[in-house]
Amino acid sequence: MIKHVPVLLNEVLQSIPQNAHFLVDGTLGHGGHTQAILEKFPQVSVLWIDRDPSIFQATQEKLQTYADRFQAIQWSYADMDTLQTKKPDYILLDIWVNMQHYKDTSRGFSIKWDAQLDMRFDPSQWISAQQRIARASASDLETCFIDYADFTPPKAKELANAILRARNKSPIVTTRDLVSVLYTCGLWWPASSIIFQSIRIEINQELEQLKIFIQKLPELLNPGGRCAIITFHSIEDRIVKNAFKALSETKERNLYSKKAIQPNYQEVQKNKASRSAKFRIIEKI
Ligand SMILES: C[S@@+](CC[C@H](N)C(=O)[O-])C[C@H]1O[C@@H](n2cnc3c(N)ncnc32)[C@H](O)[C@@H]1O
Repeated sequence: MIKHVPVLLNEVLQSIPQNAHFLVDGTLGHGGHTQAILEKFPQVSVLWIDRDPSIFQATQEKLQTYADRFQAIQWSYADMDTLQTKKPDYILLDIWVNMQHYKDTSRGFSIKWDAQLDMRFDPSQWISAQQRIARASASDLETCFIDYADFTPPKAKELANAILRARNKSPIVTTRDLVSVLYTCGLWWPASSIIFQSIRIEINQELEQLKIFIQKLPELLNPGGRCAIITFHSIEDRIVKNAFKALSETKERNLYSKKAIQPNYQEVQKNKASRSAKFRIIEKI
């Protein structure tokens, strides 16, 4: 099992209401946050959700010592309202990929390894990156690169056309195939990894999942309960920021802190992956 350092751990622990009894960790991952929560709050039980079957399985096994205090479901956090559970006092989302995704050389998340282009969190759902690249129109690809990778429209168009030309010659099926096409347009690491990231965001419908969850949020929490979301992408943070601001204007919700909480210098030094994290919390009155 990969050693995982949970981001903003102290800040997460501090933001949990002292009298909380039931929590949902909607993005279990390696269970770093959840394990610390179970240790600090002995009265608490947790519902674990993760969309990725292999990570989910491995973490359940790792945290078996807490078996009497958790329930685990391989699901999307966006659909947690469909689970027959009581309302939680705290919901945590830590939205992004896991290091395990990048290190698993078989799933195509990382440009570092040659692998089939898959990139799905849940390989039984939706279509793989390979299928998406094979079927997408030039304008679909352009939109993906503009919206999720922040590329300029001319560069996005150049990349999309290069992908279409390349796939007409032979299918783009591996990470190396895609890296080669990007390279012909003058893109290499880290710019090419941002293109990989944008494809991953699209095929997993990551922004849609977050928006669906936020729409349902007003009904999800117990009074006094909090929802805490860590994001790593500016678009996701903007979605959370705007939604929490709008909810706080209804007077039924309080912003826990007006500004996003970010990792301090020491945390970033110890864990470089934390540097773009933004943490926002809203409380139901
Ligand atoms: C950054 S990791 C979470 C790390 C975790 N907080 C820890 O301390 O180990 C994000 C996790 O969210 C999962 N995930 C992504 N989208 C999801 C969704 N819509 N529903 C549930 N889990 C999701 C990924 O599979 C990944 O394991």
